[in-house]
Amino acid sequence: DWTMSGFIDAVIKDCQETVGPEGNVVCGLSGGIDSTVVAVLLNQAIGHRLHCIFVDNGLMRQNEVEEVSSYLREHFDLNLTVVDARDRFLSKLEGVEDPEEKRKIIGYEFIEVFDAEAARIENVKFLAQGTLYPDVIESISHKGPSAVIKSHHNVGGLPEDMELELIEPLRELFKDEVRKVAIELGMPDSVVWRHPFPGPGLAIRIIGEITDERLTILRKADKIVQNELTASGWYRKVWQGFAVLLPLKTVGVMGDGRTYENVIALRIVDSVDAMTADWARLPSELLEKISSRIINEVVGVNRVVYDISSKPPSTIEWE
Ligand code: XMP
Repeated sequence: DWTMSGFIDAVIKDCQETVGPEGNVVCGLSGGIDSTVVAVLLNQAIGHRLHCIFVDNGLMRQNEVEEVSSYLREHFDLNLTVVDARDRFLSKLEGVEDPEEKRKIIGYEFIEVFDAEAARIENVKFLAQGTLYPDVIESISHKGPSAVIKSHHNVGGLPEDMELELIEPLRELFKDEVRKVAIELGMPDSVVWRHPFPGPGLAIRIIGEITDERLTILRKADKIVQNELTASGWYRKVWQGFAVLLPLKTVGVMGDGRTYENVIALRIVDSVDAMTADWARLPSELLEKISSRIINEVVGVNRVVYDISSKPPSTIEWE
């Protein structure tokens, strides 16, 4: 008879045995549920011998890094270092438009920054990761470049010369089970029901070149999407919902004047596992509210469109 608290106790005990009485563990935090649950479990197992590293790549959403890091420190007493690598990532991405190129740069820089930070900690023996059962299966079955549609770096993107052993406390769990663990650990809805957010962050939601100005526009628009989905109760009903900034300007009219500004696309989908997805049939009043708020409140946007494509043949993200 399997219970959640029994599972948690067993995992904690298991981690204690694996790590042993001395030596440190590093863990990369992203703000997502998987890495957060791993960090909290390990923190309960070995305390501050767990060193969590949050790489701020400059591609997170508005206030996300501050909110996530202060919450984790205050509520779970995590030993957490935020590395401000914003300039480094953004300068490497300057002028880059190709989606796979963006992913490669971000994946590579992440490893460099994480590696350098981990190297500052003495006697590190393990790297903790939030690998889930479906990740394990996917990384076994999708070998070879022909299977790669978009190069994710959730599994297998580790620095090779780090020689750390992996700890993957969630590798037998599905997502819904991780949510149950998170609830049992006392995490709030904002963590438990948080939509997936891609490793490359806003870089793959800004189509074309990433600039400070375009990041600011997308952050403001996305905040409105998140707030309105939450306020209307739709956040929990959809798989993922976000804004995308398009690389084109269109004509609009304001008062007596003509405007020539950016377009925001709304991508809001239903799915069970992200392998297939369909556009969410949101009430038109909600779409109207999101659209008018973005156009009125976000300087530089004069048009909002709704993405009505399913996956396949489209994908959830635009890049
Ligand atoms: P697509 O766009 O392939 O996305 O339909 C499926 C799911 O994966 C997320 N996604 C990523 N996650 N690194 C990640 O960690 C990535 O490069 C990446 N690309 C897409 C996407 O948000 C969706 O949940």
